[in-house]
Amino acid sequence: MKYFNSDYYTYKDSKLYCEDVPVLKIAEEFGTPAYIYSKKYFIDRYKEIDEALKGINHKVFFACKSNFNLSVIKTFVDLGSGVDVNSEGELFRALKAGAKPEKIIMSGVGKTANEIKLALENDLLMIKAESEEEIILINEIAGSLNKTARVAIRVNPDVDAKTHPYISTGLAENKFGVDPETALRLFRMQKDLKNIIFTGIDMHLGSQITKVEPFIEASERLAEIFLQLKSEGINLKHIDVGGGIGIHYNNEKTFLIKEYADSLISVFKKLNCEVFLEPGRLFTANSGILAVQVLYTKKTSRKNFIITDGAMNDLLRPSIYGAYHHVQPLVITDGKPDIKADVVGPVCESGDFLAKNITISGCKRNDYIAVMSAGAYGMVMSSNYNMRRRPPEILVDGNNYKLIRSRETFEHIVYDEENLL
Ligand SMILES: Cc1ncc(COP(=O)(O)O)c(C=O)c1O
Repeated sequence: MKYFNSDYYTYKDSKLYCEDVPVLKIAEEFGTPAYIYSKKYFIDRYKEIDEALKGINHKVFFACKSNFNLSVIKTFVDLGSGVDVNSEGELFRALKAGAKPEKIIMSGVGKTANEIKLALENDLLMIKAESEEEIILINEIAGSLNKTARVAIRVNPDVDAKTHPYISTGLAENKFGVDPETALRLFRMQKDLKNIIFTGIDMHLGSQITKVEPFIEASERLAEIFLQLKSEGINLKHIDVGGGIGIHYNNEKTFLIKEYADSLISVFKKLNCEVFLEPGRLFTANSGILAVQVLYTKKTSRKNFIITDGAMNDLLRPSIYGAYHHVQPLVITDGKPDIKADVVGPVCESGDFLAKNITISGCKRNDYIAVMSAGAYGMVMSSNYNMRRRPPEILVDGNNYKLIRSRETFEHIVYDEENLL
């Protein structure tokens, strides 16, 4: 089998370490399934992109939808990052984690009036509008609050990001943003919108994009709109290129951050605008693993199954996107032959799997497995299906580690139902 090693997860004496801590130690202490994150990974990724973009005026906003644990958001906030929130709930978390409102931007194709009101009351840096009706509503709410809303318009550039259809967002057929012609028309409404000031153009092409070309093509379209508006006397301040940078789950060929940053610089430098970025997956996916324990193994006439205590409710990506997550043992035991197997959970669905048809060195009952690259869109998508408690989260920092969210209790999940019987 293949063993994935990185600067953050590596085998020493046959044991998988996260930074300087054996993962087995954490799994035994907190039980499994458990999410484990490397803090150094967060810091390195933030610094890498910030450094690569130093040739241009830029601001980075961590897309906390990828991982909204307060300690994770705080790590980015402490580094100087802004935060991109997609809902009232994410705004609540960002503020609790210590993000300053002037460093928070709000996305979302379907913001409620209350979300818009909260964004304005909190004086967030900017709201990204995705339709004419939303712009009119923002204008109305801002008027009623006696405020001027800073608004960017999300443009759907109709560029094929060549990613999974469920995470592609920049095609004409997708629900996101408005087409470039409509965007121009909406920006031209500026003179009639007394309570809005348009500050920028925004896009988000999709997620897990592994080629730089779609970013360049779409950036050029945004630059054209920016210049057209400038020629008409509508001066925007920033262009927001969203998130979407692809990472290694397996052996995908991805671009270098330097290459991505250089492309943005070459498109935008001449515009003299500020560039905003909203990375999510890049910042969090490979920081994290889901540690699980083998409950049973079984061989049917067709297949080997490794049944673990981790399931689709803990990590949904394999079930909904058919996403690949590498799995490897927490402890390598010599002499175990490789087997082909499906790694599945205890949930009553055939779609409940963490990895399909993978090669792993033979696992037996009670062995531990790491499901790699689980730091993004992992815990945030977890649920209580089958009345399963969501896993704890643990943050590793050098040779220290700490619990940053406990395993849920059944009482948490039942909430107030008992009082309402
Ligand atoms: C508006 C917006 N910005 C940023 C992101 C983060 O994307 P990624 O995790 O691919 O970087 C998303 C993800 O869906 C998004 O919708």
